[in-house]
Amino acid sequence: MDSLLFTPFRIGRMTLANRIVLPAMVTRLCGEDGFVNDAIRDRYLRFAEGGAGLIVLEAMAVHRAKSGPLLRICDDAYVPGLADLCHRMHAISDSRVAPQIIHFLKISRSGYRQRVGDLTIDEIYQIREGYAAAARRAREAGFDAVELHMAHAYTLSSFLSTRNQRPDEYGRTLENRLRLPCEVLLAVRAAVGGDFPVGIRFLADECIKNGATVEETKYVALRFAQLGADWLSLSNGGKFEDAVAKPGEPLYPYTGYSGDRCMPGRNYTDAANLASAAEIRLFVRSHGLETPVVATGKIRARPHAESILRDGGADLIGMARPLLADPELPRKWRDGREDAVIHCVYANICKSLDENFKEVRCYLWPAGARQAPRSSSRTAPAWPGGGAALAAAIERGRAELTWAAASGPEGIYGYDVERSQDGGEFTKIGAAKTPRFHDERAIGGIRYRYRVRAYDFAGNRCEYSNIETVYFPVAPAHAGGNGN
Ligand SMILES: Cc1cc2nc3c(=O)[nH]c(=O)nc-3n(C[C@H](O)[C@H](O)[C@H](O)COP(=O)(O)O)c2cc1C
Repeated sequence: MDSLLFTPFRIGRMTLANRIVLPAMVTRLCGEDGFVNDAIRDRYLRFAEGGAGLIVLEAMAVHRAKSGPLLRICDDAYVPGLADLCHRMHAISDSRVAPQIIHFLKISRSGYRQRVGDLTIDEIYQIREGYAAAARRAREAGFDAVELHMAHAYTLSSFLSTRNQRPDEYGRTLENRLRLPCEVLLAVRAAVGGDFPVGIRFLADECIKNGATVEETKYVALRFAQLGADWLSLSNGGKFEDAVAKPGEPLYPYTGYSGDRCMPGRNYTDAANLASAAEIRLFVRSHGLETPVVATGKIRARPHAESILRDGGADLIGMARPLLADPELPRKWRDGREDAVIHCVYANICKSLDENFKEVRCYLWPAGARQAPRSSSRTAPAWPGGGAALAAAIERGRAELTWAAASGPEGIYGYDVERSQDGGEFTKIGAAKTPRFHDERAIGGIRYRYRVRAYDFAGNRCEYSNIETVYFPVAPAHAGGNGN
């Protein structure tokens, strides 16, 4: 079947070479000054080499408010650095590049958090102007488009939120809560002109108690589409309302349940947030609008991504952590080298680094590496003479696997661990950096088979190991209860 993922896609005057989008992902690589530096350049040049159709540069502030390390676009002084980055990315790839621009409210270690209800009308006006000026700078810097951040815990998302109970024309009712985000969109449009693509990232579901769900956000999507947004990138959660407070630390909006929904970890199903994105897309289409929808959230396998496009779940596939783990993923998929991809294991170490204002890196990268390792080797690693000698045993209520270390010309990056249950297909259940793994999700009554294989920095895989089978009996019911 033809690949939809690698069929070019047009957004206004911009053509994407494929339908993979790298959604914004802060790197914490810049200094407090907010200027592009070498580390940021290296990170995005790797992404550009990887060939995603659209690369959304991490959130950059439209205003000067204090924050941890964060890019800025709040002054013309930031334009040369951004222009240089954009120019370099364009020079080595046909990825289209758009910065995500953000306004956030004040927050401090003392626990103080500014709310939308605290803003004066003049401050609201400045937010609008900040976005418009930043978008103009994005165009001047040579970017192909701009994305307005209206998701998660930040200002415009807080205006859209059901929690926005401002008593004036900017709060309470949906029409009022939409007012500032729409004013921002129109001000940006006026600043960049009709031909410059402007996307919006917002929440399909706030994932908080009594928060906005798709019942309401589909109307938000419709309004943005009616006002000429060029794409709708849907995210979920990431709110302050359910964040877990740590004494002496600023509140991090990804620590509660809504944070889990934003960056679904190992315990979530694949495409955990797809249903709301698909519903919104359908709703917008049913009103005669073709605005493209980007769905993101634990989408990791190519056949799955293709089926989402084919079934109309989304027009574009967002992949953040999978591209952090392997920036070459789009190119490998395009070249039919799915087997060479380094797979994200959704351990969310990147998220906790972000939380602690530390440089965002991938857990899978070699210790100390600031960027994904690079290799063009095509020589697969090999098991030692005696083979992989995979052994599996049930110990302490889990399946414990050990095997012999593999070797390769450039060393070993990691091992895929695959499992089949009751004679079914093998699927990957994890990755290990050293030759051991504990499967804590194996349960009694199911016959498990395991196999492993090593990969190097280029993603070359060796032969599979021997297969080992383990079986726990179903644990007998606890005898001696009190009968209640
Ligand atoms: C370290 C990190 C930083 C992120 N920074 C941003 C950001 O700046 N703006 C944004 O809209 N989303 C941000 N996100 C959310 C991602 O864009 C994406 O929606 C989320 O990781 C789920 O997609 P995935 O499963 O493909 O990783 C960030 C995620 C991570 C892990």
